[in-house]
Amino acid sequence: MKIKKQLKLAANIDGPGWNFVGWQHPDIPADASENIDFYIQQAKLAESAKFDTLFLVDVSHVGPGNIPHYLSMFEGVSVMSALAMHTKNIGLSATVSTSYADPYNVARQILSLDKISKGRASLNAITSNPGGMVNFSRGHLGKADQYPMNKEFMEIVLGLWDTYEDDAFIRDKESGVFLNPRKMHKVNYRGKYFSVEGPLNLSRSVQGRPVLYTAGMSQKFIDHATSYTDGVFTHGNTVEEAAAIASELRRQLVQKGRRPQDFIVAISQNPIVGSTEQEAREKYRELLQLIPYNSLPRPLFFGSADKVADQVQEWYETGAMDMLILRQDHPHGLQDFIELVVPILQQRGVFRTEYESDTLRGNLELPRPAFRKI
Ligand SMILES: Cc1cc2nc3c(=O)[nH]c(=O)nc-3n(C[C@H](O)[C@H](O)[C@H](O)COP(=O)(O)O)c2cc1C
Repeated sequence: MKIKKQLKLAANIDGPGWNFVGWQHPDIPADASENIDFYIQQAKLAESAKFDTLFLVDVSHVGPGNIPHYLSMFEGVSVMSALAMHTKNIGLSATVSTSYADPYNVARQILSLDKISKGRASLNAITSNPGGMVNFSRGHLGKADQYPMNKEFMEIVLGLWDTYEDDAFIRDKESGVFLNPRKMHKVNYRGKYFSVEGPLNLSRSVQGRPVLYTAGMSQKFIDHATSYTDGVFTHGNTVEEAAAIASELRRQLVQKGRRPQDFIVAISQNPIVGSTEQEAREKYRELLQLIPYNSLPRPLFFGSADKVADQVQEWYETGAMDMLILRQDHPHGLQDFIELVVPILQQRGVFRTEYESDTLRGNLELPRPAFRKI
């Protein structure tokens, strides 16, 4: 059963996509992953269709065998700050590894992004793969450390984002009173991996706190997500598989006294869509012709606009996802979805025709969290 009043849409604007060949297509700049003009174009396109948010995945350790996107890509917070200046409503998300980064820096960067964008920032705080330890002076740590670190990281970030109560800053020029110091709070966190005293030097977000997501598949991930985050980025090979993870997430939310409506279950797909099935097949063939070994799997969401709209609607209405994160393998993937599928979803009342709110939380139907001293 659907959980949100309407479907949420996100655009994963990761250059030529999660594949080895997209960069060779004549319609995409070969350097798309580090080409700011490309990111701006994709961001504006997604905003023109009233998408909820932009999304970026990340990688912390690369070698020559990685996909082209991973070999030369922007750091997420930097590019989202730039995109904040070219957009007005769409959410901005950066993925950061809790195994490598320091929570004080990340809390500060994401809350800065939130201020810069006037309440549109979010953080995808992931454990990620252990390979990156070698780049962050943490070679002594291993996979078993990742979830305990993730827990400490999230507790600290949430605490730092609530350094100041909403009305801590008076900034009264006449009386000369800038701050009510009783409304400024330290976190005084002493963990096994991170110790942070605080406070953070940024006032509270207009959306209460930036939106917090995590990504994964395991039981530990479900436990952390339902304890700390506003949503998840997860995966299912079929609608049934995705629905099973979503329902376990919602079961644990309720167990912890939270409402499933106040949470986002996001799934990513890479649709190839045409106005007819035949057109979609031709686009897929264009990509295959770029690959010497013809090994690009056919996307799960594939075919005519009506068929793809039906699939999206089914995944949403069965509760398998609240938000669809679009990736593109074909250089026109996002544009095709926007031109062909979004109008059908809007006509059916599944997706919005106008933004409801100025903040990301508002559009995602997430409540504004009250100040909470940890
Ligand atoms: C949908 C999804 C998205 C992910 N995105 C990233 C990512 O952007 N960067 C990264 O390093 N790891 C990413 N991961 C890996 C996770 O952070 C995690 O290391 C992995 O899923 C193993 O943890 P788990 O057993 O709890 O799922 C992703 C995993 C999933 C399932």
